[in-house]
Amino acid sequence: MSKNIMDSLTSLCKRRGFIFQSSEIYGGLNGCWDYGPLGALMKKNLKEAWWSENITERDDTVGMDCSIIMHPNVWVASGHVGNFNDPMVECRSCNARFRADHLTSENCPTCGNQDFTDVKNFNLMFETQVGASQDASSTAYLRPETAQGIFVNFNNVVTTSRLKLPMGIGQIGKSFRNEINPRNFVFRVREFEQMELEFFCHPDEADKWFEYWVEKRFAWYKNYGITSDKLRLREHGGNELAHYAKGCYDVEYEFPFGFQELEGIAHRSDFDLTQHINQSGKSLQYFDEEKKERYTPFVIESSAGVDRSFLTFLADAFDDSDPKHVILRLHPKIAPIKVGIFPLTKKDGLPEMAMEIKNQLSKYFEVTYEQTGSIGKRYYRQDEIGTPFCLTVDYDTKEKGTVTIRHRDSGEQEVINKDQVLTYFLEKI
Ligand code: GAP
Repeated sequence: MSKNIMDSLTSLCKRRGFIFQSSEIYGGLNGCWDYGPLGALMKKNLKEAWWSENITERDDTVGMDCSIIMHPNVWVASGHVGNFNDPMVECRSCNARFRADHLTSENCPTCGNQDFTDVKNFNLMFETQVGASQDASSTAYLRPETAQGIFVNFNNVVTTSRLKLPMGIGQIGKSFRNEINPRNFVFRVREFEQMELEFFCHPDEADKWFEYWVEKRFAWYKNYGITSDKLRLREHGGNELAHYAKGCYDVEYEFPFGFQELEGIAHRSDFDLTQHINQSGKSLQYFDEEKKERYTPFVIESSAGVDRSFLTFLADAFDDSDPKHVILRLHPKIAPIKVGIFPLTKKDGLPEMAMEIKNQLSKYFEVTYEQTGSIGKRYYRQDEIGTPFCLTVDYDTKEKGTVTIRHRDSGEQEVINKDQVLTYFLEKI
């Protein structure tokens, strides 16, 4: 996959309504993007795929939805006020700022001169003011990760959910980082979403659960059709570990711009709960009724980016081997639209029959109806947005009660009875 695939993807996203530049009519805002009608659907599907495997289908996890702005002491305790920095240099000639560890030459990428300032630490948190007064006491932050909302609610969830350890708390939501150089489309942005699961366990069991979650999360991407050869697990070296981590594995994907992190699975030990116990003066320990043991749980965290996953699913599905017929080979669960429904012609009652099927199916999943253009062109338009199935209503539907189903990936067609349509698709999707 070459680097200009990124241009093709960006242009497909804009042309078909997956992703637009934020505030485009004002010239855009760097590091922010808007998901259009198809993008919003696909993003929802992706989040549902995560939620169903990590929360709905499990007996040992629950979900949460915490506030984005939290008490500022949360970020003192978590270490973000002190440590959440990237190394930054500024070009003295043109004043452009760069992440020092991302520079690949001694020359300024903007003006070409070789006159950088010393490296400074730049804190990535967005600051804001809460309430009408504007002084140090009203300073707050937009959360840079969703995880801390879970840690500070540990006691609330344990006492209300009746779950016993080991147990996990998951959350999907927005996070904000004032990245020095946002880049690579939605890969590195300033406003993004995370899907995080904090799994609390006894310290003696933490290594076992760490291994378990690394394998489980790696498999998730493959289960939804991401090419295995392009996925890899990479263990962090000691000097790479975040301030809270005892160990960490990244799930990486080979993007057109190289292997990059999609998700981190970290052994956070009792770092966060201990920090919050010390900062707040409140107990966040767990009491095991059976063993009569009180302890501070250890945490295994899996932290995935929704936007990076979105880009991965898109890039991996993109097939332009025939440039006149681009196909997005998305997994049916991730595809924004599941079925394209077409009457062969606009007359003889075919649109009415097709509409009836559309109304029946749209109660269960996302479908689309199109009645203009040749059937071939309609198939191609759906292939380009990843719709796994098309259904055509023709004269046989009138005479024999059958419809034709066409499969996106093989191009094969099959004829089924129109009464079986709903069961057929519920099984496939
Ligand atoms: N709670 C741990 C944590 O936030 P992280 O490695 O800093 O760990 C986790 O972030 C995931 O969030 C990353 O693997 C990535 O998918 C996503 N992410 C982080 N920064 C991002 C950014 N600027 N743009 C898009 N996604 C980002």
